Amino acid sequence: MSNVIVLTGAGISAESGIKTFRDSNGLWENHRVEDVASPEGFIRNPNLVWDFYKQRYTQSISVEPNGAHLALVKLEKHLGDKFHIITQNVDCLHTRAGSRRIYEMHGRLDSCFCTRCRTHFKIEDIDLAVQLPHCELCGALLRPDIVWFGEIPYYLYEIEELLKNSDYFLIIGTSGVVYPAAGFVMTAKLFGAHTIGINLEKPDNMGFFDEFHLGKCGELLPPIVDEMIKHL
Ligand code: APR
Repeated sequence: MSNVIVLTGAGISAESGIKTFRDSNGLWENHRVEDVASPEGFIRNPNLVWDFYKQRYTQSISVEPNGAHLALVKLEKHLGDKFHIITQNVDCLHTRAGSRRIYEMHGRLDSCFCTRCRTHFKIEDIDLAVQLPHCELCGALLRPDIVWFGEIPYYLYEIEELLKNSDYFLIIGTSGVVYPAAGFVMTAKLFGAHTIGINLEKPDNMGFFDEFHLGKCGELLPPIVDEMIKHL
């Protein structure tokens, strides 16, 4: 059976009601990215950053996975451990949809960790009414478990192994401008994968796609998955 790897970006959650990044003039929910998504921004104004991620978390649990997330669950049920998702999204919608083999390379909104002892906590276990949450073990400031600009994404070693061994690489709902994720399609293709893009507009890294489907992934992905299930 073939190995299928999927890379998802903000576009897969758009039909669930979460705004993508690059349709907002470089702003993330009306904030400058450097203010809310960089270590320097957190040092400058931890109150603002925590308020922002509390809102993002609350928003993420108020929306539901859509047909594209569910199609990937179906594909995973068919392929088992021959299937993995790499996501740049932090909204946890793949997990809530029922996907299991997921690498959340940019972190997740439902988690935070201690800036000193690095202990991780679930957001649902901390008191969000406290403006700046602190570690119950060592007392230091907690921070959102999000990979900010200038930080190294999670699971890069595991992801490289997956890409090198993929037969099909699907790239869904990502503009292809933020590295290293934007370069994954090149790696997969160089190692022999058939690469398939699904996006509302042509992404920046189009040149490495063997197949491209222009449109909404909530509509396009379910029939593509059904076809794959017939053949894999
Ligand atoms: N179906 C398919 N594609 C869609 C849909 C949809 N319903 N809606 C939007 N898109 C496409 C957009 O056309 C765009 O090309 O999804 C893409 C989303 O691109 P970005 O907003 O740039 O999001 P992403 O590629 O995930 O950003 C990567 O940048 O800011 C950082 O860390 C952040 O993980 C994020 C990274």
